[in-house]
Amino acid sequence: MVDAVSSQFQGVPIKAVFGGFHLVGGLPVLNTMAGSRREVEGIGEEMLKYPIKKVYTGHCTGPKAYRVLKGVMGDKLEYLPTGASVEV
Ligand SMILES: [Fe+2]
Repeated sequence: MVDAVSSQFQGVPIKAVFGGFHLVGGLPVLNTMAGSRREVEGIGEEMLKYPIKKVYTGHCTGPKAYRVLKGVMGDKLEYLPTGASVEV
């Protein structure tokens, strides 16, 4: 999705990306992660290659993967809980 937007609007910064990474590994959902730590870190590193100001992600990223991504992406990644609002 991000790659398609970047290709279509080359050189234009992306203010925000909203979306889940679907990285919950299975049941129980609280401490599982689809993929290895290194694979999830790679997703974060890949996202940092794009001119994105902020990525807001939700529950389907999963708390474990969120922590790994946060370690890679830092301030560029924020959790977006149900009911939250964001001004872009
Ligand atoms: Fe999702």
